[in-house]
Amino acid sequence: MKEVQPMAAVNGVVTRLEEARIPVMDRGFLYGDSVYEVFRTYDGVPLFMADHFDRLAHSASLISMEISQSRQALIDEIRSTVQATGATREHDLYVRYQITRGVGAVDLYPGDVQSTTSVIIVKSVPVWNPDYYRKGMAMAIPRVRRNPVDSLDPNIKGGNYLNNVIAVTQARQLGADDCVMLDHRDFVTECGNSNIWFVINDQLKTPDAGNLRGLTKKHLHIALAAAGHQSVETPIDLDQVSRASECFVTSATREVMPCRSLRLEDGSQITFPEGGGEVTRRTRRIFSGYIRSYINRHSEDRLL
Ligand SMILES: Cc1ncc(COP(=O)(O)O)c(C=O)c1O
Repeated sequence: MKEVQPMAAVNGVVTRLEEARIPVMDRGFLYGDSVYEVFRTYDGVPLFMADHFDRLAHSASLISMEISQSRQALIDEIRSTVQATGATREHDLYVRYQITRGVGAVDLYPGDVQSTTSVIIVKSVPVWNPDYYRKGMAMAIPRVRRNPVDSLDPNIKGGNYLNNVIAVTQARQLGADDCVMLDHRDFVTECGNSNIWFVINDQLKTPDAGNLRGLTKKHLHIALAAAGHQSVETPIDLDQVSRASECFVTSATREVMPCRSLRLEDGSQITFPEGGGEVTRRTRRIFSGYIRSYINRHSEDRLL
């Protein structure tokens, strides 16, 4: 199969990814003053596209950003960028679209900025280490705590990911693959760029607060309910985590990815079944079926 050429579009101008540039006075660069979304395609169809645009609008509203580009204009730009990659429907694509507050003075207050900047990146979906699915990821709880909701709300899916960068870096320094972030009360929130789920006393649970409302998480609840399985959003503390029998993460690019261990802050480890236990494996199967049916029902969104 032909390789996909990674491409970008800045304010609608499509170039090869490595040639794409934004001005240094762009507030996305200066302050991380931007919002973004990532979806992937299956058979040329974007997964959960309408939800992604709704979430982008929600993130923008949380930072009082008015997006200059219409939803349709952004979809058209995404389509042009996707088509410029030379991909066919057989290629599964990663699509990231970011809206920065735009170019302005060096001034925290964005009042005078005229229009937002759109930046689109399209490339092949990331290829995760196959061991992450075969065995599961090793997780660690880092020292850093997740931003409190009333400080920098994790539901602002924005260009400032330093909290998560620090958390992942600390987890890697501990020898893990990814982090599980706690909040300041030591309740579980989420991972670096995915939501986390546990099987605790035979119940499938994911934290109800302090995390991004992941679209994979949202649709997984729907898929599980349709298949007759319960899943709940609830506060999860470390006492509950110590009783967990399975653990997995969800995101647009990882789908359902098992975790094989979790290192606590005192250095002790909780282990989970390699490659995911019964619930994790069943959940993966159910979600794959749900994606297939979604793609069949949304062929009008196809980008290729
Ligand atoms: C911090 C964080 N949490 C959770 C998620 C999972 O969200 P989704 O399932 O919509 O990809 C992401 C994805 O980017 C993320 O960055």
